[in-house]
Amino acid sequence: MRFLVTGGAGFIGSAVCRHLVGVEAGQVLNVDKLTYSSDLRSLTSIENHPNYQFIQADICDREAIVSILKKWQPTIILHLAAETHVDRSITGAAPFVETNIRGTFTLLETCRDYFEGLSPALKAAFRFVHVSTDEVFGSLGPTGAFNESSPYQPNSPYSASKAAADHLVRAWFHTYGLPTLTTNCSNNYGPYQFPEKLIPLMTIQAMRRQKLPVYGTGLNVRDWLHVEDHARALLAVARNGRVGETYAIGGQSERNNLQVVEAICDQLDKRDPGPQPRRHLIQFVADRPGHDARYAIDSSKITRDLSWHALHNFESGLSNTIDWYFGSQTWWEPHLRSVQAIASQPVLEPSESGTTP
Ligand code: NAD
Ligand code: TYD
Repeated sequence: MRFLVTGGAGFIGSAVCRHLVGVEAGQVLNVDKLTYSSDLRSLTSIENHPNYQFIQADICDREAIVSILKKWQPTIILHLAAETHVDRSITGAAPFVETNIRGTFTLLETCRDYFEGLSPALKAAFRFVHVSTDEVFGSLGPTGAFNESSPYQPNSPYSASKAAADHLVRAWFHTYGLPTLTTNCSNNYGPYQFPEKLIPLMTIQAMRRQKLPVYGTGLNVRDWLHVEDHARALLAVARNGRVGETYAIGGQSERNNLQVVEAICDQLDKRDPGPQPRRHLIQFVADRPGHDARYAIDSSKITRDLSWHALHNFESGLSNTIDWYFGSQTWWEPHLRSVQAIASQPVLEPSESGTTP
């Protein structure tokens, strides 16, 4: 199988590339523009593998994508490239519209031309897997969960741009017969996540005994899934999913933000005790505009039809992730200057903070 992964230098894309090359023995071409949230060092373990190649390209660049498809001749497209940080979408939506909507459109159009030129056998095997988010469904009340029939009600510029992309993908299946599948996944966590997301941000801040800015009441709920479980789910969908269908993927691990941040504090206190418990660093700050109250996913379709279920449990997965950040300062430190919440804060000296990093 020849895979083309877009956004393979990002958090989830790099986990997908490592899984494909390391576990599945697939041939992988990673196509990534290398924006601020990418890091080729996340791919060090496979960068010299004969089954892995990387090309720097923008999915909005039609000519580049046409030429890549022609040369690489992929069987499966795993489309992850996107602008992904909700807070950035609120302060500047333009790149979200550009990459998530126009980029997906460009990829669909170029793949349609490529698909039309394939032999019947290759056409039968071709799949375009569009990786989306549960955020397109909006916000849940205290009960219930999103599934494949949930209505689209995006609330942030990020989720609106992903919703638009989902609709384009659906239309390219129904109108042109392009064999597409869409996945809608809940919040991911794990190693190599850009430190502007809740778990890496709070872990790094707590390690350095810096303020932990919790939005609003801290009672907003997310359903956490380990990134390796997401990578396995995407492969299951690519290999055995039904063309034209969508799959909801979740971790059955609902936690409110305060619970997550407190768990991070407590674990770091055990590893690296200091003058005061880290929970003292929690600071409630202004809420995110349009902040969705709760996400939860009913994954029964992918479990029933594709025999997928999450292998990581949230407590041990979070603990291993915190350990990874604790030991990977050289990976995350260069990213800190791009993270607004961190860039504006002075870093305490170890003697002031009583902590190692
Ligand atoms: P990320 O920001 O870590 O990675 C995105 C990657 O896409 C980066 O490497 C970036 O350089 C690349 N990229 C951006 N614009 C590009 C362009 N125009 N052309 C080519 N490459 C481009 O994001 P992530 O968390 O790994 O998310 C990957 C995908 O999964 C996204 O589509 C996102 O919507 C979806 N998703 C994420 C989560 C989550 O919790 N992180 C949950 C569900 C779905
Ligand atoms: P985030 O990691 O940005 O993911 P998403 O918005 O895609 O769910 O945020 C997860 C939750 O954590 C969300 O409810 C917002 C909250 N949050 C904070 O309270 N403080 C922060 O500094 C960040 C980045 C997020």
